Amino acid sequence: MSKNIRVGIAGAGFAAKFHLENYPECGVEVVGVTSSRRERRETFAEGHGVKAYASVEAMLPDIDLLDICTPPSSHRDYILAAASAGKHVIVEKPLTGFFGSPEEHSKAHMLERVREQARMLRETVTNAGVTLCYAENFVYAPSVQKEREIIEKSKAQILRLVGEESHNGSHSPVYGIWSIQGGGSLIAKGCHPLGAILYLKRKEGLARSGRPIRPAAVTARTHSITRLPGFEDRGFLRTTYQDTEDYSFIHVVFEDGTVADVTASELVLGGIYDFVEVFANNHRARCRMSPVNVLDVYNPSHEQFKDLYLVEKISSNEGWIPASPEEGWSLGYGHELRDFIRAIRENRPPESDIDLAIDTTLTLYAGYVSADQEGKQVAVPLE
Ligand SMILES: NC(=O)c1ccc[n+]([C@@H]2O[C@H](COP(=O)([O-])OP(=O)(O)OC[C@H]3O[C@@H](n4cnc5c(N)ncnc54)[C@H](O)[C@@H]3O)[C@@H](O)[C@H]2O)c1
Repeated sequence: MSKNIRVGIAGAGFAAKFHLENYPECGVEVVGVTSSRRERRETFAEGHGVKAYASVEAMLPDIDLLDICTPPSSHRDYILAAASAGKHVIVEKPLTGFFGSPEEHSKAHMLERVREQARMLRETVTNAGVTLCYAENFVYAPSVQKEREIIEKSKAQILRLVGEESHNGSHSPVYGIWSIQGGGSLIAKGCHPLGAILYLKRKEGLARSGRPIRPAAVTARTHSITRLPGFEDRGFLRTTYQDTEDYSFIHVVFEDGTVADVTASELVLGGIYDFVEVFANNHRARCRMSPVNVLDVYNPSHEQFKDLYLVEKISSNEGWIPASPEEGWSLGYGHELRDFIRAIRENRPPESDIDLAIDTTLTLYAGYVSADQEGKQVAVPLE
């Protein structure tokens, strides 16, 4: 595709904003935005000089690429609508999920339905001949990309990986509702370190034997700590989780018998806590997404820095702050969008593609099945 790529963004919230901010260096034309709430789409459109559309369907004829930044329960339908219209897709994490009540459906039922959806999405995208780009920014963090290069060039064997994504709770008003998010910390936050971990094991396998190493089985636990009767709320952590967990842990066993451990929670103060650590047979690496440890700022009074942005999700700008001078760079957002646009132009899969999206989603839902049985090992149904 050599012509100018016209992008339409679905959603006008947090993710839509950081996608839009990272498009300028991609050489695309952001045409418009849509959001289910009229006021939000019009304010967003006006603020960024793009057109507001009443719906995805109304926007599709004017674009080549739909960038889905809406809550997870809408991802599947928007992917199908875009692919059916012959448009490429960027989809925020998670790819999809099960959006019914956890009170009414077993986790095994959820896993089976998600597996069917994954199969159907892959078929639809493949048959339509469009590219699906899975917006897992951890894959594109410079630290993870450097580690990928080390693994490939040194033919490293990864023996063990550890990762985490945690903070004090999402800003989104619809977070914490299973029927909209498809789960809690495990899917919404665990997807990030797990995505990078599955990506690095794929790359190791390709470098060493020409085939990716994929997840085989999981053991997981989930907990709702802020809903414990004894939890003392001091007002610093978000607590409004309707029917989702706020703490999760998943242990992954890969096809080659090596392992990974991922923690994801809403219980961590002090800003975003995101990292992936690699223990290999020839080296060790710690990939930091946040904090990145490049600029520590000391501020004796919150008041004087109250309008300054220093780093995501700290509640105060007072004291020592692990500032992130360029989050779009350290969290991989800019690299991600540039790879997506190049992949579409070059008609090749992006680094973070539909296969990674499906493996990540099915591994996490297998994790929910395990957590329901207090950590019994469950096989990951690969598609
Ligand atoms: N990669 C990351 O670091 C990251 C960070 C935050 C969120 N996300 C993902 O981005 C997506 C959006 O999350 P967010 O934090 O921006 O949420 P948000 O609540 O801030 O914004 C969601 C936007 O979508 C609109 N919307 C809701 N339902 C819609 C529908 N059916 N059709 C059209 N518009 C609809 C809302 O009005 C709002 O404008 C989620 O999939 C989330 O998991 C990714």
